[in-house]
Amino acid sequence: MDLIENTKEVGQRAKQELEKLHTAVELDAFFAKFLAKKGEIPTLMGNMKAVPAELRATFGKAVNDVRTSVNELFERKKAEIEKAKLEKKLAEEKIDITLPGATLSPGFKNPYYGIIDEVTDIFLQMGYEVAEGRDVETDRFNFELLNVPKDHPSRDMQDTFYLIDDLLLRTQTSAAQAHKMLENEVKTPIRMICPGKAYRRDDDDNTHSHQFAQIEGLVVDHNISIANLKATLELFVKKMFGEKREIRLRSSYFPFTEPSVEVDVSCFACQGKGCSICKGTGWIEILGAGMVNPKVLEMCGYDPKEWSGFAFGVGVERVAMLRYGIDDIRRFYQNDIRFLKDYPLK
Ligand code: DAH
Repeated sequence: MDLIENTKEVGQRAKQELEKLHTAVELDAFFAKFLAKKGEIPTLMGNMKAVPAELRATFGKAVNDVRTSVNELFERKKAEIEKAKLEKKLAEEKIDITLPGATLSPGFKNPYYGIIDEVTDIFLQMGYEVAEGRDVETDRFNFELLNVPKDHPSRDMQDTFYLIDDLLLRTQTSAAQAHKMLENEVKTPIRMICPGKAYRRDDDDNTHSHQFAQIEGLVVDHNISIANLKATLELFVKKMFGEKREIRLRSSYFPFTEPSVEVDVSCFACQGKGCSICKGTGWIEILGAGMVNPKVLEMCGYDPKEWSGFAFGVGVERVAMLRYGIDDIRRFYQNDIRFLKDYPLK
């Protein structure tokens, strides 16, 4: 067969095969078969010796033409396959921007923490420091140093969560008072609040929870009187519940204060006229307080002849319930996101 014809036939075949290629793998195989060093087209040149001298130039040109044109077509095919591959990939990865996104639901602060923050801010502005209490206490700090007598019912197994022997979950944040006074080795004035949890073996119902929060306050200085207590609480109540609020003190009993009082605030719902929130009395009880019992001062190293002080304890959930009109204390602890959404905090 004429060598030039043969060359054209190889070129023809290569072009036909090229037409049918679809993948990069097929392209590679094609390249190896026709265009690589030992492929059909470059080896055509090996036939040169058999070509008569006068036809060598024509033969050489024919081989080169075939190589150039097959090469060109090969490059075009390669670009086509790469383009198709890219388009396929883009189509597969296409993002449907019209699909609704996953909605992120932001967290909400429990209103109970909102109250703690507000009360803390009010007292920080008055120059108080915030003390860290501890949830696990000893009998000494929770009861003894607070002058709670041995036979007091709150010391009973029925009322307190005892851990081992002498260790218990504190029943009141008042335990922080004794810590603060004893920590002050050099006896200096104290103005502190201690927000924290307290625990009692109560059966849970809409106004009782075995776990709740209190904010304890303690001031110890020279010449502190009940007038200072009243003025401080009045300021606190006005900041917390509004300028028009008034307070009244009712005589009460706590072992660690003498005298002891319960403090009522004039009802913010009915302005003192009487409604369901204040049970018709016009007043709402919000905290317990009193002058620090001299026995407590003495046990904690403050000489009662030189020092005097006042203390108070606020129930956090109670304030939150009054403030937001929440009717069941258990709702603070049920982790129900709807509850948190109902009382969004600023
Ligand atoms: N610890 C009291 C209670 O849990 C509240 C209290 C009353 C705290 C009078 C005080 C206080 O500091 O002076 O009911």
